[in-house]
Amino acid sequence: MSKERTEEDTVAFEVSERIAWVKFNRPEKRNCMSPALNRRMKAVIEELEFRDDVGVLVLTGEGSAWSAGMDLKEYFRDNERAGLGAVRKAQREAYDWWQRLRWYEKPTIAMVNGWCFGGAYGPLFGCDLAVAAEDAQFGLSEINWGILPGGGASKIITELTGFRRAMYHAMTGENVTGKRAAEWGLVNEAVPADRLKDRVTEIARVLLGKNPTALRATKWAIRRVREMPYDSAQDYLVRVQEAAHSFDSEGRKEATRQFIDEKSFKPGLGAYDLSQKAKS
Ligand code: COA
Repeated sequence: MSKERTEEDTVAFEVSERIAWVKFNRPEKRNCMSPALNRRMKAVIEELEFRDDVGVLVLTGEGSAWSAGMDLKEYFRDNERAGLGAVRKAQREAYDWWQRLRWYEKPTIAMVNGWCFGGAYGPLFGCDLAVAAEDAQFGLSEINWGILPGGGASKIITELTGFRRAMYHAMTGENVTGKRAAEWGLVNEAVPADRLKDRVTEIARVLLGKNPTALRATKWAIRRVREMPYDSAQDYLVRVQEAAHSFDSEGRKEATRQFIDEKSFKPGLGAYDLSQKAKS
């Protein structure tokens, strides 16, 4: 099967009720990322990014894996044999779509259904939120086959889990379960595998109920301020809020009207009614 799988078939997706369910689709290879998969994934997420019928993107895996990381044969060995040009091209194809994901226009959720290794930490971090099956397995297996956790993985584990955990995880190559990954902050939460899709759907629906311009500005702001000193962050947030008004200057006014005048909702308890257009 693997030999016949076309580039197009390395990724599967469907859109249902404004949620795009995107799947790594090489289950027979535990969804490891080949150059073909990386090219296809970039094309798919870019196609979905500006579709009006998509409000949230979920990234998950077909079969027993979320993704077993980079393809040791097609990504590493074949390209190293072909030379530095091929290596760099393959790196760009992978890093490209992870970067697109980090700065995606729509909110994104990693639904980690199984194995998640090494290079897969790139798209894991690319997604804004992450929910894992309790029995999913996370590992920086690089040390087990003689390399360091590259492609951003060392940076990601340090940022998400802190120095000691990152060091232990990377140096021992020991896997952690989804449950432990949630305790560590590698994912938001872990749920029993049979509840995974329901829980992700629930979160996606919450996001679909928010003002999309505010949501986009929020997720980008959270990523940007992590690397800024306080004063720069404060100033940046003022500018971003003002820039957001050029896309949606009415949303906040309408929400204020619903709260102060109409008294139909409380911002502390949920989102305003997006379907009502501004009256003031
Ligand atoms: N690169 C290339 N091929 C991979 C792969 C990877 N990262 N992960 C799995 N595969 C292939 C296997 O070679 C095997 O191919 P084959 O059927 O042609 O022999 C197939 O996928 C199934 O893998 P298998 O090891 O038999 O599945 P499993 O369910 O017993 O074990 C894993 C699953 C994920 C534990 C195991 O495949 C594994 O350790 N993969 C490598 C993980 C890794 O270190 N990734 C690199 C991070 S940079």
